[in-house]
Amino acid sequence: MPFLDLAAQQAEITDEVLPVWQKQFTSAAFIGGSEVAAFEDEFATYLGVDHVVGVGNGTDALELAYRAVGIGPGDEVIIPANTFIATAEAVTRIGAVPVLVDVDEHLLLDVSAVAAAITDRTRAVVPVHLYGQTADVRALETIAAQHDLVIVEDAAQAQGASSTDGHAGAMTRIAATSFYPGKNLGAAGDAGAVMTNDDDAASFVRSYAAHGSTVKYVHDRAGANSRLDALQAPVLRAKLRRLDKWNSARRTAAERYESLLAGFSGVRLPVPRPGNEDVWHLYVIQVDDRDRVLTDLTTAGIGAAIHYPVPLHLTPAYAHLGYRRGEFPVAEAAAQTILSLPMFPHITHDQQEMVAAGLAKSLGGAS
Ligand SMILES: Cc1ncc(COP(=O)(O)O)c(C=O)c1O
Repeated sequence: MPFLDLAAQQAEITDEVLPVWQKQFTSAAFIGGSEVAAFEDEFATYLGVDHVVGVGNGTDALELAYRAVGIGPGDEVIIPANTFIATAEAVTRIGAVPVLVDVDEHLLLDVSAVAAAITDRTRAVVPVHLYGQTADVRALETIAAQHDLVIVEDAAQAQGASSTDGHAGAMTRIAATSFYPGKNLGAAGDAGAVMTNDDDAASFVRSYAAHGSTVKYVHDRAGANSRLDALQAPVLRAKLRRLDKWNSARRTAAERYESLLAGFSGVRLPVPRPGNEDVWHLYVIQVDDRDRVLTDLTTAGIGAAIHYPVPLHLTPAYAHLGYRRGEFPVAEAAAQTILSLPMFPHITHDQQEMVAAGLAKSLGGAS
């Protein structure tokens, strides 16, 4: 019972993708081209944004989005303590400083903690739409307007998620996403994108990601090489056509877990934020004695994982930021109890029952 099985997704799209790959291969259309442009247009239409700029991966997408809104060396960027390290890496790669805040009961950025983290160097705040949920962008907007901050969404884990604020990745001036293969909209390799309604930001990202040029060998600035691989575009186009169907299958699977695990003493089920249309990138329960439960599941051949075992402020890579244990109690406590169960669109009822049985055995029987 794998944690993530992408084989069924690949099988569904094989007949659409292979002929396009063959054409790209024989015509050597590897960089840019009509497939990339078509995917960017289709994803922009799906999200309802003016521009999608495909780039090399989600970390680059975040870095490019930060750069596009003018964040630079010495600026402070507020991010949640519970997120994948890339949210912070993209900040430090441009010489800016990640300023961490705790998370709320949904393990999303705690908006009520943001104001206290603002200094005169703060330029941006990053709501991370973690686990397939959407963070509370509307509540952030008031604070951002008061302090002249840019909101940059990290939508890597939430393709297709929405709330009353709109689609994840389309709620604010600029957003970044990842198409890492395991994401809800995943490529067959690394890929990412920046989404924005800001024409200047879109032009900046497109040129910066192409060595700072819009005309070949004319470089307005020293940029980077981070383009969406043309071979990924047909995969993303085929998967985008199925994204809503697959997200709805994830919702059904989440409901099944909810009924299978109801009444398991010691298991705390995820509670989506009100108004949030969760796309269940991950199904994260909380259990005491989590490490033993994880070992039991692994021994029983059931894939499970932890997202994330160490909050950013306790990660060796960011020790130099000077945070101490105890500063972000919700993130720290969650890191001891969170457990991600297998979740993917084609997971079967039998597989979910196997997960529930494994959990019951580990917990000493369910009531
Ligand atoms: C929340 C979050 N942000 C950023 C990233 C970075 O994306 P990538 O792995 O494509 O660089 C990821 C992906 O793993 C992620 O989960």
